[in-house]
Amino acid sequence: MAIILGIESSCDDTSASICIDGVISSNVIANQLVHQNFGGVVPELASRVHQQNIVPAIHEAISKAKIHKNEIDAVAFTRGPGLLGSLLVGTSFAKAFALANSIPLIEVNHMQAHILAHFIDAKPAFPFICLTVSGGHTQIVLVKDYFDMEIIGQTNDDAAGEAFDKTAKILGLPYPGGPLIDKYAKEGNPRAYKFPEPQIPGLDFSFSGLKTSIMYFVRDQVKADPDFLEKNMNDICASVQDRIVSILLNKLKKAAAQYNIKRIAIAGGVSANSGLRNGLNQTAKDLGWEVFIPQFQYCTDNAGMIAIAGYYKYLKQDFIGQDVAPMARMPF
Ligand code: KG4
Ligand code: ZN
Repeated sequence: MAIILGIESSCDDTSASICIDGVISSNVIANQLVHQNFGGVVPELASRVHQQNIVPAIHEAISKAKIHKNEIDAVAFTRGPGLLGSLLVGTSFAKAFALANSIPLIEVNHMQAHILAHFIDAKPAFPFICLTVSGGHTQIVLVKDYFDMEIIGQTNDDAAGEAFDKTAKILGLPYPGGPLIDKYAKEGNPRAYKFPEPQIPGLDFSFSGLKTSIMYFVRDQVKADPDFLEKNMNDICASVQDRIVSILLNKLKKAAAQYNIKRIAIAGGVSANSGLRNGLNQTAKDLGWEVFIPQFQYCTDNAGMIAIAGYYKYLKQDFIGQDVAPMARMPF
């Protein structure tokens, strides 16, 4: 029997989870609403709020799992990538907790953990291809084993989540705008406006051109009609979302063909997007793919994915020493 405490603090969500023998028993997420007023995550504020939230989140995760803290066998934490000040809170807590309870410490790479979230329930067979789309990253990953992953495509500039969030900002919507664009898009016509698809070679992405074209489009339309945004919000959101999803799915199709793999997964915050989820299911039907889509609570940042990654490292006895430090940029 192995009980793992997982801790996630890489950006603006403080999260704690208990994993018992590979099963997630609790997954507590404390969101930080303070950033909404600033149009993006303010790193200094994020680390302060993590400090306030971390102890209550861990208490709640332990109590929801109906275990005693003395029963925990190891503590897994996000070492990176992420905001250094935010990572420092989770890392310091994990180190202190491991030391105080004489249990091993397990470092987890946040981007690998987004992918390993699939082992919370569906457990895809290896190898599979995973499109990881979050606020900071857009990657196509060839997943050969739990900790043997290769990035075969990535963004040259903005991440897919940033494309959603920056578009939302242009449209006057609060941060994070991705879920709001998703909401308005459901009521809109995806063919109302046509935004360009960037021509990037290979499996890489670029979203900055799309953002610029949306910015000029909105500027020109608002000049002609000051109420343009209010009147057409649903159609604009549906059209932007349709383009972002088609960019993602076209590269995914290319990757699947190139590597001759039909097991396809999505992960990260943007995998919560209903357009992407529907589009992937449709493509799967057309091309005979077996697809893996995480439950909503395991798409955006959460400690369940850190705890499950920690569990697989625990099985290999892959531990890290007390001298470990967080890494803002952390390679696979
Ligand atoms: O994985 P995540 O929670 O944090 C990072 O590691 O970045 O991803 C957050 C990103 C944000 O850009 C947010 O707008 C986007 O995921 N997001 C969505 C949706 N839910 C979250 N984007 C589009 N549609 C959604 N439903
Ligand atoms: Zn993330």
